[in-house]
Amino acid sequence: MHFRWLHGDGDTLSAVMTEMVLRAMAPDDWDAVAELVYTSTNYWYASKGPGAIFAGGPDAARVFPEVYEALDPGCCILAVHQRSGRLMGSCFFHPRETHVSLGIMNVHPAHFGTGVARRLLRHITDLADARGLPVRLVSSAMNLDSFSLYTRAGFVPRRTYQDILLAVPASGLSHDAPGRAEVRSATTADVPAIVALEEELTGIRRGGDFAHFIVNRSGIWHVSVLDGRDGRLDAVVASVAHPGSRMVGPGVARTESGAAAVLLAELDRHRGHSPVFLVPVECGDLVQQVYAWGGRNVEMHVHQIRGACPPFAGVTLPSFMPETG
Ligand SMILES: CC(C)(COP(=O)(O)OP(=O)(O)OC[C@H]1O[C@@H](n2cnc3c(N)ncnc32)[C@H](O)[C@@H]1OP(=O)(O)O)[C@@H](O)C(=O)NCCC(=O)NCCS
Repeated sequence: MHFRWLHGDGDTLSAVMTEMVLRAMAPDDWDAVAELVYTSTNYWYASKGPGAIFAGGPDAARVFPEVYEALDPGCCILAVHQRSGRLMGSCFFHPRETHVSLGIMNVHPAHFGTGVARRLLRHITDLADARGLPVRLVSSAMNLDSFSLYTRAGFVPRRTYQDILLAVPASGLSHDAPGRAEVRSATTADVPAIVALEEELTGIRRGGDFAHFIVNRSGIWHVSVLDGRDGRLDAVVASVAHPGSRMVGPGVARTESGAAAVLLAELDRHRGHSPVFLVPVECGDLVQQVYAWGGRNVEMHVHQIRGACPPFAGVTLPSFMPETG
């Protein structure tokens, strides 16, 4: 019976669906959404995974409404219980010129397995379908509930990543990599070349994201670039330093050595901290190099795409902050 309740039989499911309404997140929902993200993620990872992800209370998850609303105002959809107004689920999304990225998806544990995530996902895939755009995301390879939510909805896994955590010493990373000395901080003048590089290697365009990171009004972003020939770039990577999230990415590079150069330079900006970054599993030289710097595998993620998927070339370095599938 317990199992049936958790996963929902036909009657339970239809009751849930009729009681659920979708609406956009408003500013006074931020605390409730942060609490939902915190509770749902920690409950799932404590009960089915390696242990809670967030520590320190629900405010740790305010990073999502804060950062995502600054980047994409009005792009969080909530599933709400019609009678009580209680939050049942939330999902952020990032509409772009070439695609829609799906941000963090959460369902309250009381409603796991009753179709809430499927309904939120359909809202976003309907938006993308209306614009004729693919939907892209990175989902955990260790979380079969989310992996299956997406593959069930027609997403196809395209690239696999190792999530690597690297404790950067307070004195900095003394390692060297060819090109590291030439890596420089990006300026807004670099945005067209960044867009061209990413479009060439992955077929997607998101210049507004890189402009947002470089302008850096919130003081949490930085972007490094490596120049190539003829005014083109060879590599770019951003990073975020926020109490709720410390990640290196998103980025792209023509070669594994270019990726190593910008990664090393960007990681070194996080002295005394332990940022996480994602490296494609097939980039064997880069993976070995990252181990030599002290990197440790902490998770695996899968690039999933619903709809057209231009072939990947070079090295892709996705992030979840913001979600950049
Ligand atoms: C992952 C999560 C969002 C799923 O939400 P949910 O509301 O329980 O999911 P749903 O009930 O809508 O079910 C999702 C679909 O996956 C399918 N599914 C689940 N496990 C499956 C499996 N092992 N094989 C095949 N399909 C599976 C379900 O059948 C359902 O598809 P259907 O409706 O077509 O039958 C929820 O567990 C959660 O919030 N977890 C914590 C946070 C998290 O991990 N978020 C995702 C990462 S950002």
